[in-house]
Amino acid sequence: MTTMESLIGLVNRIQRACTVLGDYGGGDNNAFSSLWEALPSVAVVGGQSSGKSSVLESIVGRDFLPRGSGIVTRRPLVLQLHKTEDGSQEYAEFLHLPRRKFSDFSLVRQEIQDETDRVTGKTKQISPIPIHLSIYSPNVVNLTLIDLPGLTKVAIEGQPESIVQDIETMVRSYVEKPNCIILAISPANQDIATSDAIKLSREVDPSGERTFGVLTKLDLMDKGTNALEVLEGRSYRLQHPWVGIVNRSQADINKNVDMIVARRKEREYFATSPDYGHLANKMGSEYLAKLLSQHLESVIRARIPSITSLINKSIEELESEMDHLGRPIALDAGAQLYTILELCRAFDRIFKEHLDGGRPGGDR
Ligand code: GDP
Ligand code: NA
Ligand code: MG
Repeated sequence: MTTMESLIGLVNRIQRACTVLGDYGGGDNNAFSSLWEALPSVAVVGGQSSGKSSVLESIVGRDFLPRGSGIVTRRPLVLQLHKTEDGSQEYAEFLHLPRRKFSDFSLVRQEIQDETDRVTGKTKQISPIPIHLSIYSPNVVNLTLIDLPGLTKVAIEGQPESIVQDIETMVRSYVEKPNCIILAISPANQDIATSDAIKLSREVDPSGERTFGVLTKLDLMDKGTNALEVLEGRSYRLQHPWVGIVNRSQADINKNVDMIVARRKEREYFATSPDYGHLANKMGSEYLAKLLSQHLESVIRARIPSITSLINKSIEELESEMDHLGRPIALDAGAQLYTILELCRAFDRIFKEHLDGGRPGGDR
């Protein structure tokens, strides 16, 4: 692993440990909550069934999210990807099911559905209470991704009238944070001028510096039309280039078409397309994943100094916290604090070692 990967990985683990700790020591103004805000996360925004969950899945490269027509994603899913040593076993773990390791990703999907229903019932209602999931794998980049319910325009049968506003408020609470990178998902078979994703992202990020425009469903456009106006930035200009995507269709999902096949089909789609052939190497899920990770790396690189000072502040807070451990405190919380302290010290050590040998992350 590069130093950069180790540092990001450590911050990821600190964030995870802080989440486990829950409210303990996690007040609003301390170094823990600042640390949680210090690293960028990536959230999807868009209308219902625009392809948000599908896009996230292809970025991760694993099949594990509930997808489909209608309102499928009904609670926020905070997904932390942790890069592990090459050759290690890939597994997933939920915050609400500690110590149970999932290596079968179809069971992960089932558990997301079950855990959603546990809070909302088997309804079309939503809940702002997030589900926390971690994936440990040698094949991921250290990254936090957030899947969100889709923006809607009307309440349907079984939903309260307030749902339209409730969803928007929930989505907004994630994407208005300055450290949130927005994947604004719009389906190509609808007019971009009606895109909920663009509307909301423009409000929270007017300069477009943290918004990536993603155009899904290129394969579903009317014959004789294409999306070049959008993809080439003439309809709606963003600071980052637009990326066109072809996810699996509902028929593919029903037939259990796997990720590898889907990616190959997507590559072929662009390579052989008369409209998009000239853009083929700047289109598709794999390209989007690469673009995102490059962007994240530059953002994190720029933030390392402020993260380092936060880490030092945390170490001080934690050390004084540990001094007071004589008072009654849950054993788990004590152990968790200790874990965070150790992780912070590790970060500090690696950072300093690296400073001696050059600039942070400069080993690549
Ligand atoms: P979400 O509601 O925004 O999370 O969207 P999903 O990822 O659940 O996808 C909604 C539906 O649209 C599913 O049936 C997907 O198979 C389908 N879908 C998503 N993206 C594409 C695409 O690029 N092409 C095609 N043909 N179908 C897609
Ligand atoms: Na959907
Ligand atoms: Mg979804």
